[in-house]
Amino acid sequence: MPDAEVRVSLPQRHFGETARTDLWWLQPLVVFLGLSGFIVYSTWAAFQGAHYTYQGYLSPFYSPEIFGNSRHSWFGPWPLWWPGWLPYSPAFLILWAPGGFRLTCYYYRGAYYKSFWAAPLSCTVGKPFKKYRGEAKLPLILQNVHRYFLYLALLFLVFLSIDVYHAMWFETPEGVVQFGIGVGTIVLLINVILLGGYTFGCHSLRHLIGGKKDCVSKSFGGGKPYDCVSCLNRKHMLFAWMSLFWVGFTDFYVRMCSMGVFTDWRII
Ligand code: FES
Repeated sequence: MPDAEVRVSLPQRHFGETARTDLWWLQPLVVFLGLSGFIVYSTWAAFQGAHYTYQGYLSPFYSPEIFGNSRHSWFGPWPLWWPGWLPYSPAFLILWAPGGFRLTCYYYRGAYYKSFWAAPLSCTVGKPFKKYRGEAKLPLILQNVHRYFLYLALLFLVFLSIDVYHAMWFETPEGVVQFGIGVGTIVLLINVILLGGYTFGCHSLRHLIGGKKDCVSKSFGGGKPYDCVSCLNRKHMLFAWMSLFWVGFTDFYVRMCSMGVFTDWRII
């Protein structure tokens, strides 16, 4: 005999209404403040178009520098065909790629849906919308481009690693270029490590490497890379925040050295 179906209709809560007594609002608030702070700082830094290099250091917000006036520029100074009424900064040409990667990240999506437009704010807390639309329709269906941003993010890791190499060369007042390691070199290196931990723990990379679940041991590298990515994936939130903070700090450090506010101590 089939089980009897019992339908229970739950009352629709008003926005923010809940019986919870714990600090459920704290996490969305911290996420809101953290992401807002980063967006404000990175937008400000991108619009500066100056003080993004010091010695061999290049701010990650400006890497790769496609056009620009520093020694890191791939194609020389800013092109003359750029419309004069448009503001320009080397960061404008590249920041859309790492920005798009974070914006479409599975972890960040869950975090900013909750904290920026309360969908939902938290479990068993009333939300502002009656219907749940999910990501099956426009515009949120566009989040599926995440895999393509992953390819770009992997490429950016290569560029940032090359920047660490450049950060090991310093020019003396006499114009001689010497090998060395400064605090900034370490700052740039930590940035690559944290971004690597974040990128290599990506859910899309896990799917790409693992393929079908019952074939993992036959996947690329006998399943070892899959295990590595899975291990990082379990700490994805941690790497997401650490790398976000550090990439902003790296820009700040290079900026402060370039402006003469910080002294970049040489270790070697
Ligand atoms: Fe977070 Fe891909 S899921 S970076």
